[in-house]
Amino acid sequence: MKQKEMTDKETKELIESARMVQKNSYAPYSNFHVGAAVRTEGGEVFVGTNVENASYGLTICAERSAIFNAVSHGHSRIKAIAVTTSNEKATPPCGACRQVIKEFSMPNTLVIVAGQQGDIQVKTIEELLPFSFVL
Ligand code: THU
Repeated sequence: MKQKEMTDKETKELIESARMVQKNSYAPYSNFHVGAAVRTEGGEVFVGTNVENASYGLTICAERSAIFNAVSHGHSRIKAIAVTTSNEKATPPCGACRQVIKEFSMPNTLVIVAGQQGDIQVKTIEELLPFSFVL
């Protein structure tokens, strides 16, 4: 079953939400600022940013931050996630975040990656993480 596609307006709004929260990124060690915004099955939007730590391994990525925010508010089905970074080019999510997106995905959940120069790439989570781990 294929889910309804995101409209252009919904996609732009989700990217804008990611860009806004990217401003709150706490990344004094890498100086790599990331914002993420998820749109849930019901249309609610939850945001998150990367939060680093002096003990580097404790860092959380923006994508997981946004997803855990949505889940904490009782929304665990994700229709799309938008990711923005301080990089010029669109930067796709790391492998760990792909696995977490998969956990809360719907069929064909969209991963929208936007660069600073206006380039936008859209993939399904199945494209980004084929043959994924499931219990
Ligand atoms: N980071 C993310 O927020 N998302 C990713 O998918 C990969 C990396 C963050 C973690 C760290 O704060 C910084 O980017 C550099 O790795």
